[in-house]
Amino acid sequence: MSQDHTVPAEAVAATEVPEPGAVTIVVPTFNESANIRRLLHQITESVPSRLPCEVVFVDDSTDDTPEVIRAAARDCPFPVTVLHREEPVGGLGGAVVEGMKAAGSDWIVVMDGDCQHPPSLVPELVATGERAGAGLVVASRYLKGGSRAGLAGSYRVAVSRGATWLTKSLFPRRLHGISDPMSGFFAIRRGDVTAEALKPLGYKILLELAVRSRPRTVGEVPFVFQERFAGASKSTAQEGLRFLRHLAGLRTADPLARMVVFGLIGLTGFAPNLAALWAMTEAGLHYLPAEIAANQFGVAWNFLLIEKLLFRDRRRHRHWADRTLRFAVLANADLVLRIPLIALLVGRFGLAVLPATAIALVITFVLRFAGTEALVYLP
Ligand code: GDD
Ligand code: MN
Repeated sequence: MSQDHTVPAEAVAATEVPEPGAVTIVVPTFNESANIRRLLHQITESVPSRLPCEVVFVDDSTDDTPEVIRAAARDCPFPVTVLHREEPVGGLGGAVVEGMKAAGSDWIVVMDGDCQHPPSLVPELVATGERAGAGLVVASRYLKGGSRAGLAGSYRVAVSRGATWLTKSLFPRRLHGISDPMSGFFAIRRGDVTAEALKPLGYKILLELAVRSRPRTVGEVPFVFQERFAGASKSTAQEGLRFLRHLAGLRTADPLARMVVFGLIGLTGFAPNLAALWAMTEAGLHYLPAEIAANQFGVAWNFLLIEKLLFRDRRRHRHWADRTLRFAVLANADLVLRIPLIALLVGRFGLAVLPATAIALVITFVLRFAGTEALVYLP
């Protein structure tokens, strides 16, 4: 990241920019040059008279947005900074976290750069947080008085509703009291942001903060999501997939949840395993070698899913060939280990065959999970 796009010194001197204020407004931008003047004008009209502020743009643009911001900043009665990132890690969410690290105020308000979020609400978000002693105040489209007027098309409304429902069901406790966890407009106390613990991935930075930073008390204020002023949304189908990966990463942050997902993925592995077994025995192969070969299909399937969904950000510690080999050895050791273990439970401890098998399955499953955690993917 380069910081060389900050406001030029002569512009700062010319407008007698005041000290950073009570709130830092963080605005992520990606090719928004046609919206900047209007946004800064709206902020100028409604914020500094009620609450001293500074604005930090975190820009990943490929157009002239940084230059447009610097030019427009000369007319602003508050400090404006542009951080232009050469390597846009984490997309929108990554940009917001960079802006939060650069914030000079106790309160940080995050809002979009396309005028869909009314800046007149900024002082109210902060005031609500102060009044309630809250660490996080969300501008919600789903509270009485709020709406998503600017969400173009019934397709986007349906997707938004489905995503909100899914997310709230996955994190019922963490998102308690947050009616709109997908909102991109919120205020958070700087002290409640645990920047080092965050792993932002795409658009849903509020969700990331609510789940990983866990602010103490949460407040909400209704707002009307406006029409975008100029240009089009930067969200793509790829962004939708990134959101699902983000959800998976958040949901499997603790080991117990990881073990459950590991087990569920393991169950789905029965399908390719049985399909391969059927195909090979149909083709005339004896069932014993077919069992062993078919098992490899299940193992490969599980490996792919686990790599994509469960240990995505722990893959870099080992080469992929190394991980594949280790995973395959563990999965097959599981099979080899199970029979002597059952024999031991029956012969030595006098258990019946069925409970012995059930216990052996549980033991080898937990061992395989622990082995995968420690030997295939380092923490
Ligand atoms: N720095 C940076 N990097 N900014 C980005 C990036 C990026 O990769 N992608 C988008 N932005 C900026 C845009 O320039 C804009 O200022 C803001 O982030 C929001 O992007 P939009 O593309 O306009 O998003 P949206 O309108 O589809 O979605 C908004 O509303 C959703 C709720 O319906 C966002 O606020 C979402 O977070 C929110 O969930
Ligand atoms: Mn938008």
